[in-house]
Amino acid sequence: MTAVTIRALDPSEWELFRDFRLAALTSTPGVFATSYAEAAARTPEEWRANIGGTDHHQVFGLFDAERLIGITAVFESDTHPGGDTAVFAMSFILPAYRGQQLSRLLYETRLAWVRARPRLTRVLVSVRASNATSRRANERYGFVETGRAPREWPDGATEDEVFYQLQLRR
Ligand SMILES: CC(C)(COP(=O)(O)OP(=O)(O)OC[C@H]1O[C@@H](n2cnc3c(N)ncnc32)[C@H](O)[C@@H]1OP(=O)(O)O)[C@@H](O)C(=O)NCCC(=O)NCCS
Repeated sequence: MTAVTIRALDPSEWELFRDFRLAALTSTPGVFATSYAEAAARTPEEWRANIGGTDHHQVFGLFDAERLIGITAVFESDTHPGGDTAVFAMSFILPAYRGQQLSRLLYETRLAWVRARPRLTRVLVSVRASNATSRRANERYGFVETGRAPREWPDGATEDEVFYQLQLRR
């Protein structure tokens, strides 16, 4: 492994992103809210929009040299009035690169994106209850559990979705 870096993906990179995201949804259908079928039906324009590259929405890519090895997303919630809420989603690191604390890059980069937008005062994320790694990563960054509810996941299983919130100090 060479130096691992993280940067914002550009909408022009939608094919690279699409292939990586679809592979993540295929290999790990039990942890994301989006199903493979939903994502596979997207048009090129929808994939471009899904990357964002705007003041309200951004997907980041984790790279080992030129190779994309992970993705993560942050966007402004449109379901919370006041425009004060950001949401984290889509995190995925290739299995060969896990367990090396590379998720820190995903969190620190997204938190910097949120902190650069003073209107955003809290961050929400949700996780399948059995996803111990993801829950641990959320808690390390100060996310606090706010509730849980049963959910049917794209792998067909029903299990609690755990909701987390991080209140930012401005
Ligand atoms: C979630 C994911 C991005 C985390 O990346 P990672 O490389 O596995 O995790 P890291 O090495 O950065 O470790 C994150 C934290 O989890 C802990 N951890 C690692 N493996 C763990 C395990 N199997 N069980 C419990 N905790 C674990 C680490 O110790 C670390 O905590 P610490 O900083 O307090 O020591 C990665 O596991 C992944 O892509 N998983 C599949 C997709 C997924 O679940 N996405 C999240 C959907 S909400």
